[in-house]
Amino acid sequence: MSDPQPTYLHDYQPPAYRVTHTELKFDLAPSATKVSARLQLERNPARGEEALPLELDGEGLRLERIAIDGQALNPDEYTQGDTGLTVHRVPERFALETEVVIDPAANTALEGLYRSGSMFCTQCEAEGFRRITFYPDRPDVMATFTTTLIGDAEREPVLLAGGNPVERGELPNGRHFVTWEDPHPKPSYLFALVAGDLEKVEDRFTTASGREVTLQIWVEEENLGKTDHAMASLKRAMRWDEETYGREYDLDLFMIVAVNDFNMGAMENKGLNIFNSAAVLTHPQTATDAAFQRVEGIVAHEYFHNWSGNRVTCRDWFQLSLKEGFTVFRDQCFSADTNSAPVKRIEDVSFFRTAQFAEDAGPTAHPVRPDHYIEIGNFYTLTIYEKGAEVVRMLRNLLGWETFRRGSDLYFARFDGQAVTIEDFVGCMAEVSGQDLSQFMRWYAQAGTPEIDANGHYDYAKGEYHLTLRQRTPATPDQPDKQPLHIPVRLGLVGTKSGRDLPLTLDGEALGTDAVLHLREEEQHFVFTDVAEAPVPSLLRGFSAPVKLRFPYGREDLAFLLANDSDGFNRWDAGQRLAMLALDDLIAAHRNGVEKVMDSRVIEAFRTLLSEESDDKAVLAEMLTLPSEAYIAEQQPVVDVDAIHAARTFVKQGLALALREEFLAIYEANLSDAPYAPEPEQIARRSLKNVALSYLMSIEDEGAIERARRQFEAGHNMTDVRTALTLLTHSSRGDLAEPALKAFGEQWAHDPLVMDQWFTIQVTRPQEDALERVKFLMQHPAFSLKNPNKVRALIGAFAGQNRVNFHRLDGEGYKLLADVVIELNRLNPEIAARIITPLTRWARFDETRQALMKGELERIRGEALSPNVYEVVEKALA
Ligand code: PHE
Ligand code: ZN
Repeated sequence: MSDPQPTYLHDYQPPAYRVTHTELKFDLAPSATKVSARLQLERNPARGEEALPLELDGEGLRLERIAIDGQALNPDEYTQGDTGLTVHRVPERFALETEVVIDPAANTALEGLYRSGSMFCTQCEAEGFRRITFYPDRPDVMATFTTTLIGDAEREPVLLAGGNPVERGELPNGRHFVTWEDPHPKPSYLFALVAGDLEKVEDRFTTASGREVTLQIWVEEENLGKTDHAMASLKRAMRWDEETYGREYDLDLFMIVAVNDFNMGAMENKGLNIFNSAAVLTHPQTATDAAFQRVEGIVAHEYFHNWSGNRVTCRDWFQLSLKEGFTVFRDQCFSADTNSAPVKRIEDVSFFRTAQFAEDAGPTAHPVRPDHYIEIGNFYTLTIYEKGAEVVRMLRNLLGWETFRRGSDLYFARFDGQAVTIEDFVGCMAEVSGQDLSQFMRWYAQAGTPEIDANGHYDYAKGEYHLTLRQRTPATPDQPDKQPLHIPVRLGLVGTKSGRDLPLTLDGEALGTDAVLHLREEEQHFVFTDVAEAPVPSLLRGFSAPVKLRFPYGREDLAFLLANDSDGFNRWDAGQRLAMLALDDLIAAHRNGVEKVMDSRVIEAFRTLLSEESDDKAVLAEMLTLPSEAYIAEQQPVVDVDAIHAARTFVKQGLALALREEFLAIYEANLSDAPYAPEPEQIARRSLKNVALSYLMSIEDEGAIERARRQFEAGHNMTDVRTALTLLTHSSRGDLAEPALKAFGEQWAHDPLVMDQWFTIQVTRPQEDALERVKFLMQHPAFSLKNPNKVRALIGAFAGQNRVNFHRLDGEGYKLLADVVIELNRLNPEIAARIITPLTRWARFDETRQALMKGELERIRGEALSPNVYEVVEKALA
């Protein structure tokens, strides 16, 4: 077999034929489902006068019949290959009929039509529809759909597809059918069906213009008690999109279905969103606060796609961030409005700087709009989603909300019902604002994280502050040379005497106390005049651009900003920078075998934080949280996993020892037995209390152990129980961990989402037996390699979060991951290509580990690989 070949953006051509209407009939059976399709097609004048052959995508389909306008085709009138079918000559307008047979039960890739437990369900984005029927499976072909589902009345009493149900009835042999009609033209990737023995929870929503919408969440019976939060979130999201973007829902029915086997979080299929059960089901006893918030965000995200993605969709898959970057930005703003805005920003940025920066610095780095790919399934990345959202956020900030909103209105009005490009979106923003965004477009084309080196000094005599900003984007694979970007740098100057933001005057213009500098050149110099006192600059406020900013802050400067910055985000960031300086020293000490000494300035800074009654509890909890091992690793030239772990543990213990009374007081003050609610004020108390407990447990004193045990046994809610169980399990005391794990495992054996957490807690423990535990738990009856949630909870958590054990010097961690990748390569290529990520980061480690990691990548390369894994491994070894 020849190597898989890339697809290039510059090869884009409009489709030769358009589909105006698609009629599908599914005769459902687990191992042999018959799919009959009738497509109304017409020649696309955009491709000229000539009659081109009709190219259809199709994979793994057994063709039983093909006809044009009722005439069956002779075998010499078409050619069938591994990836599709070509009909050599077709009329200008015609109806194409096909009948194929597919095998959902054998579909372990979870793309196309597959089984999840006893249900049938589909996943078509990006290119799954071609595993259902022959079709021009590309997003710029949009058709109305009529779908008839035929199933067993007992095994599949519920038959769902997108749109409105228009007919249903009984059939012979205990079969029944339902026909669905979707009046909105849509691309094939938004097609969906679900069939099975499901129960629903129903609610209603009246849109701003008075349309009555029925809302349904479909689940397996045992999950009926876990839908309240998703339903409430959905209604909030619907209202928010009306109020914030002027977008209303456009069908009479909106359905969500929870399925246990799903590759991603959820999918925005028109009228029928399909969700990973982990992204929709919640209950105080089974889901943590973080899970509640994640569900709220994902429900909103999928709902928002109805406009940003479905009504206006992507011309081709290179434009993926057009819908994903914009929709992530929309869901981030929704969550910020619903919960604590500063905490939401802190969480998002801290995740972004850890995970997206690492992606941008690794072998799979790619622009927000890539220009080629081998497997589009590999491009549902942090860069497309999260960096794409940061780019949209910069646009919002550059234009201001009101102008941005006008640009958004123009975009939806002008392109409704069309498949468009990123230029179309940015073009609307340029048009309404009159701004020249041509340099800004480079954000979409250039990979890599820009670095800004900032330097400043205060001229006492003249009362001036001089600031120099220098930008540079490092080379990434395929992109050795980079052009300067248009980078908005929000900043303030905080007076060291007053502790206040000073008025900013630049080139004679008064800018207020918080301004945005536009860095467009490689280097720019800014002189602020009338600066009355020596300031400390607060730079990149709110993370105003997705860049790394360096400034030679001293520890006093950072402690000062931590105490005085008016920008909540930068206050938090100053604390992180301060902790990083201390951690750097300790990492060096560990490597050099020198005795570690705790930096007293960090202790004093934390003491001040802990004594401030007035502080927002949620923000305080974030400020008290040390940078994660993964984030610290990102900052090191060569990652030393053991030194990082030792240094971080040392700081945590040092703080706990010095501030034991303060942490205890915080813990006690935030205990509560109010009935659980996933509300900001309660969530803040719990996170603050649990941060305090984790400090106390780091020194494992008896008082802390007793409290953790009590918190576990009290079982108030999953947030508290999970924290306590994690702390007990991650302590050095096996006598504490084992009974708790056993009790928890028995109590929740029936609940797959809780068992996922039970797996994760165990395999992330820092003790040396973690790897053996992973192997042992892979044999557990609740584990299955075929279920992506289980793979993520066990293997993904071990390789991604248990850094000391995954990177064991005997290479056993790497070997285990490679073994799993090899097996998943056959079962589920998309998951295989994701779970492999930690191995692709080999270049960041010492030579011994590099050799071990590369050795495992080579071993994987020796296998017969799916295009997904092939593409990632080739890049990683290039
Ligand atoms: N489009 C989905 C989302 O962003 C993600 C997804 C992609 C789901 C591909 C399944 C397959 O919410
Ligand atoms: Zn999305």
